[in-house]
Amino acid sequence: MSELRLLRSADLPDLQELSRAAGWNQTADDWQRLLALAPEGCLGVEEGGRIVSSTTAIRYGRELAWIGMVLTLPEYRKRGFARSLMSHTIDLLRYRGTSWIKLDATEEGRPIYTELGFTAETPIERWRRAPAPFDGESPNGIYPFIHDPVLDRRGFGANRAALLQDLASIESASLPTSAYAMGRPGANACYFGPCVARSFESARLVLEWFLSRHPEEEVFWDLFPNNKPAVELARRYGFEPVRHLTRMGMALSPTAPYFMANDSAVYAVAGFELG
Ligand SMILES: CC(C)(COP(=O)(O)OP(=O)(O)OC[C@H]1O[C@@H](n2cnc3c(N)ncnc32)[C@H](O)[C@@H]1OP(=O)(O)O)[C@@H](O)C(=O)NCCC(=O)NCCS
Repeated sequence: MSELRLLRSADLPDLQELSRAAGWNQTADDWQRLLALAPEGCLGVEEGGRIVSSTTAIRYGRELAWIGMVLTLPEYRKRGFARSLMSHTIDLLRYRGTSWIKLDATEEGRPIYTELGFTAETPIERWRRAPAPFDGESPNGIYPFIHDPVLDRRGFGANRAALLQDLASIESASLPTSAYAMGRPGANACYFGPCVARSFESARLVLEWFLSRHPEEEVFWDLFPNNKPAVELARRYGFEPVRHLTRMGMALSPTAPYFMANDSAVYAVAGFELG
């Protein structure tokens, strides 16, 4: 017997097993953050006393919800669990008056989303930098993170202040009025992102801030390949693309206002599961 239900903290060991089985980078803290930010948006299928399939949906106000962690344990796949969790999530978000939903789709997930009405918006890629000493020093002019809602909304298109506040406590920095960047540990590599910047030069400085603090670690960075300055920066600092996904979106009502994001200001997203 399988049961679809809300996820809770007691499920953390099962959730870690789900992301580990897929080779994903999320840690227990990442799962915990999702449960805390979206206690009513994280769903799972329980069977045999454990969670075997999951989805998460963070709401950024009424304008946008972000779906992530669509995972089914390998031995439980092709039984309709992911599709069922996605349908419930969409119904829930529609009921709450959310205008848009978005996600970053793997090749495996994409057919499910297409069938549910999502359309492809833009490619998004994971880039990786092998451990390498960082030549140089931490740049000048870097301050502790200062939340600049205008700068972030310009890039992301919705208010994600609660998420940024949470991530900022891990590792973050700002170049006042021109850029910010954050980082966090991962199961496989440390993670650079989000990073929103008004110029190539300011993005370069916050990237150097991050790399100077992680000189001998593998680093992941998720970016839009259509953002050519981001690609140039990634290549210049020794990153290479390792995974290719597709950002997809769907309006939940015919009258939903057009969603305005500006990918050219986004040098690094917050995570495939966060937007
Ligand atoms: C993508 C993923 C979540 C799908 O999970 P799932 O629970 O197997 O998904 P579903 O069972 O709902 O649907 C998957 C397929 O099984 C088919 N299926 C569903 N019920 C079925 C049944 N009773 N018998 C046979 N096939 C069935 C579906 O038609 C679908 O096939 P299609 O993709 O060719 O249309 C899973 O493969 C996974 O965890 N992959 C690794 C992580 C990943 O890439 N996640 C997506 C992130 S965007």
